[in-house]
Amino acid sequence: MPVEIVPFQQSHIEEAGTLLAHRHQHARMTFPELPQRFADAQVAGRAIAATLRREGAGGAAAIRGGRLCGYLIGDLQFEGVWGRSAWVRSAGMALAPAESTDLLHDLYAFLGEEWVTVYGCCTHFVLAPIANPELVEAWFLLGFGVEQVHALLPLEPDALPSLPDLPGVEIRQAEPEDGERLASMSDVIWRHQVSAPVWGIMLPERVEQTREGWRGLVREEDAVVFVAISEGDLIAAQAYYPAEPSEDNLVIPDHCIHFSVGGTRTEARGRGIQQALSATALHWMRRHGYRVCETDWRSANRSARTAWARHGYRPVLYRMARRIDPRITWARGL
Ligand SMILES: CC(C)(COP(=O)(O)OP(=O)(O)OC[C@H]1O[C@@H](n2cnc3c(N)ncnc32)[C@H](O)[C@@H]1OP(=O)(O)O)[C@@H](O)C(=O)NCCC(=O)NCCS
Repeated sequence: MPVEIVPFQQSHIEEAGTLLAHRHQHARMTFPELPQRFADAQVAGRAIAATLRREGAGGAAAIRGGRLCGYLIGDLQFEGVWGRSAWVRSAGMALAPAESTDLLHDLYAFLGEEWVTVYGCCTHFVLAPIANPELVEAWFLLGFGVEQVHALLPLEPDALPSLPDLPGVEIRQAEPEDGERLASMSDVIWRHQVSAPVWGIMLPERVEQTREGWRGLVREEDAVVFVAISEGDLIAAQAYYPAEPSEDNLVIPDHCIHFSVGGTRTEARGRGIQQALSATALHWMRRHGYRVCETDWRSANRSARTAWARHGYRPVLYRMARRIDPRITWARGL
């Protein structure tokens, strides 16, 4: 039976919820730490409804024999860092199990044409579940590449790392008087990220704001900050925030904490200092009722990728990106 691609309507939500719940049940077989609630079709349907309420959101639905056999939903952002961009969030796509991932081609063509020609959004992002390698592969074939990795670390009491003893290094929670020393660490991450082969931008007008952010970490009520001190100097830090589950985020489970920033001064790297910070932080989290830790990193940032994987984080979701030549809005040979 042929497939028809039509605009996604509210009336598609119920069937779409069943498809998404099925995708999520499958993902949880590989990653049981993913939130359980989205395995329920009604909860998954509410995630889709919330995704549709995002600014500039629209979708494409694939209908075969009168039934929804796949959908794709994206929203639009127009701002400084991401530019004019379209985003397929974690609840933004699912296919019926019997369907070929080629269906994504048709859904993306239908939805993406409007992104590009009507809104001038030539940067496209898709949050793709790693547990579905065939979905990831389909986006590769559509010209996307992995840019960011989202990962979870379950805080099992019997799997927590032992606390290493690093001679001459004190690991402790930050204190109010650490603000200035934290501010002096504020360029450690972005200087690494702007360099090859990450080339992640840092807008010059954001440098001071980032410095202020680091200085203010100790005053933020919900920030949990750990520091490493050697000979009176702050040589490394990590900051965490509670990660509230939301209606349309398929990655954040209950009792989750977000690992926001982690950096070690260049001269102190390779001595296991982040290992010691992570071990201290993970024990603290477990004691404070957290059950899962979540973080993300640029896939081209090898030191972060290897460090966080060694500390126990398992990648669950890729942010995949495609940047289309914007001349396509006028260079069509006409
Ligand atoms: C990523 C980063 C935070 C890691 O910091 P670190 O203090 O060097 O990290 P670790 O403590 O985990 O140790 C890293 C290496 O030291 C090794 N090491 C050496 N002595 C060690 C010891 N006594 N105990 C444990 N590990 C030791 C580790 O095995 C590891 O080696 P590997 O990378 O070959 O696997 C650091 O490279 C950094 O600040 N990068 C720039 C900022 C950045 O990208 N931050 C992350 C943003 S998402």
